[in-house]
Amino acid sequence: MIEGGFPVPSTILVAGEPGTGKTTLSVQSLFDVARNGEVGIYLAAISEPPWVVQSFLSNFDFYDVDLVDTHKVVFSDLGSSLVYEPENLMERLQQVVETYQPSRLVIDPITPIREILERKGINDREFMHNLFAYLKTLSCTTIITAEQNYGTIPSSLESYMVDGIIVMSYPEEEGVRRKYLEVLKFRGTDHVTGRQLLDITREGLSVHAGLR
Ligand SMILES: Nc1ncnc2c1ncn2[C@@H]1O[C@H](COP(=O)(O)OP(=O)(O)O)[C@@H](O)[C@H]1O
Ligand SMILES: [Mg+2]
Repeated sequence: MIEGGFPVPSTILVAGEPGTGKTTLSVQSLFDVARNGEVGIYLAAISEPPWVVQSFLSNFDFYDVDLVDTHKVVFSDLGSSLVYEPENLMERLQQVVETYQPSRLVIDPITPIREILERKGINDREFMHNLFAYLKTLSCTTIITAEQNYGTIPSSLESYMVDGIIVMSYPEEEGVRRKYLEVLKFRGTDHVTGRQLLDITREGLSVHAGLR
């Protein structure tokens, strides 16, 4: 759908409502990277601690304990620095990145991070600008998930800052809920347009591009 994969460096927003598959897509993509011998980091925000994410994802076939044990896929946490020292959040993030040198980084999800910073009186827009400036200096693809839908994307700061936007949705049509994935924007790429049917099975996500 995107001419062969994510550019490096690039930032990708994976937007969708709860349960649309954002975490599954992100983590499956980290295991893909790790199977190529590279390092992928999963940074959990406050909503779900990393061990919770790991325990439900370990049911998927793509989840490989060996890759976790050998630190090819690293599950880490921004939650405690968010709560206790939000002003040091950037530093904490940089520390994790510099320790593991990932070629793919997932921040899941960004929405509560911004809300907490705002509540603690820290300028969350400035944080976002610093974050994106930092990410541009890395040879890394960063996937940022956000609890958003088609209605909220046009007014969201991150949607302007990223290189690509993937929207995941599950509209109800004729009494049936189907999952979809759409590449809404992808800088410099002749990407497939329109919502594509998405399947989530034990094997992970698969997109049926072109099927209706
Ligand atoms: N083994 C499985 N087989 C099929 N579907 C699954 C399986 N595990 C999870 N799912 C689906 O994946 C969804 C969870 O996706 P998740 O990545 O947690 O979404 P999000 O991060 O957007 O909230 C569930 O709502 C469920 O429909
Ligand atoms: Mg999730």
